Amino acid sequence: MRIYLDHNATTPAHPMVRDAMVRVLTEDVGNPSSVHYYGQRAKAAMDDARAALAALVDADASDIVFTSGGTEADNMAVRGALAARAPQGRRHFVTSAIEHEAVLTTARALERDGWPVTIVPVGLTGVVDPADVAAAITSETALVSIMHANNEVGTVQPIAEIAALARSAGAWFHTDAVQSVGKLPIQLRAWGAAGVDLLSLSAHKFNGPQGTGALWVRRGIKLSPIVTGGRHERSRRPGTENVPGIVGMGVAAQLAAQDMVASATATAHLRDHLEQSLLSKIDGAVVNGNPLARIPNTSNISFDGVEAESLLIALDLEGIAVSTGAACSSGTLEPSHVLRAMGVPQARTRNSLRFSLGRGTTMNDVEAVITVLPGLVDKLRRLTRSAAAVR
Ligand SMILES: Cc1ncc(COP(=O)(O)O)c(C=O)c1O
Repeated sequence: MRIYLDHNATTPAHPMVRDAMVRVLTEDVGNPSSVHYYGQRAKAAMDDARAALAALVDADASDIVFTSGGTEADNMAVRGALAARAPQGRRHFVTSAIEHEAVLTTARALERDGWPVTIVPVGLTGVVDPADVAAAITSETALVSIMHANNEVGTVQPIAEIAALARSAGAWFHTDAVQSVGKLPIQLRAWGAAGVDLLSLSAHKFNGPQGTGALWVRRGIKLSPIVTGGRHERSRRPGTENVPGIVGMGVAAQLAAQDMVASATATAHLRDHLEQSLLSKIDGAVVNGNPLARIPNTSNISFDGVEAESLLIALDLEGIAVSTGAACSSGTLEPSHVLRAMGVPQARTRNSLRFSLGRGTTMNDVEAVITVLPGLVDKLRRLTRSAAAVR
């Protein structure tokens, strides 16, 4: 038995995505910048993908810039906006304490280089209070970056409200929507009017390939390039495009657009069943995050008295893959920066598992977890107690 409940780390590519990528690698082998037949075929395939991705987020295709994934899109937005606005005296960056490392580590690096940075706090459910963002913005703020959905607890932020605040103060607004694109409807024409200027997404979070993503840049916003080179992507991102990846992302976008509402409803139903069953069967289990404003696939639960890493390994031995938080922090015993920022008590930050469901998850998968997990928690708690008694 193998059960995969780690879709926030990455999702399996859909077979149609894989087939389209193989087709590009075997047939449409040109460089999209070349003027000959092969180049034009590659360019046409890339244009179709751009249109499909634009349709998924209700944007104009020409406002989409392909990148190597969410991390590059976040860097391009943050570093590109600060560098573009510094000459007008706007050097200040505002972001939140629960951002993905792609934004938070970038913020810390910028701060070390002398850029003023303000990190706004979040409440116990992981929601950013727009009033805190308003208090942080100054006349020198270049950019506000607040993620749409958090990767560890799934909390969804009031993006339109925060974006409007930023715009009224003359600051640009970026959102990292890597965990929401393909899971929640996103309408960039409306968001662009409300104040959103930049949005990052990543194909491997919605059944596309790894290493491919995009930054949506609202028309009129001119970022400074963070990498220099040729005139690809209308001089916005140099380097020969990853055509197989982009074509795969286009197919994934099309598939996500077709089944997003049905898939979100089905996934939320499975997630809620999993969560409620675990809470009722296991004493000392607590859900982290905001149950009322969450992406439909994510549940983050702390199990009192159990080291999350031990539980993760015990589950893995049973063929069940989950996570202790962000993929990049697993393998270390560092408590999650997200749970810490939310004010979750320290013991509980080390006890939390993230279950993230996806399009292929079935009721049988969920039932298997509900059957196996209570026994494992019980066993680990007994082991911990007897180890403490020996000491
Ligand atoms: C919220 C968020 N932002 C950014 C990223 C980075 O995306 P990528 O893996 O495509 O670089 C991730 C990946 O886990 C994420 O969850």
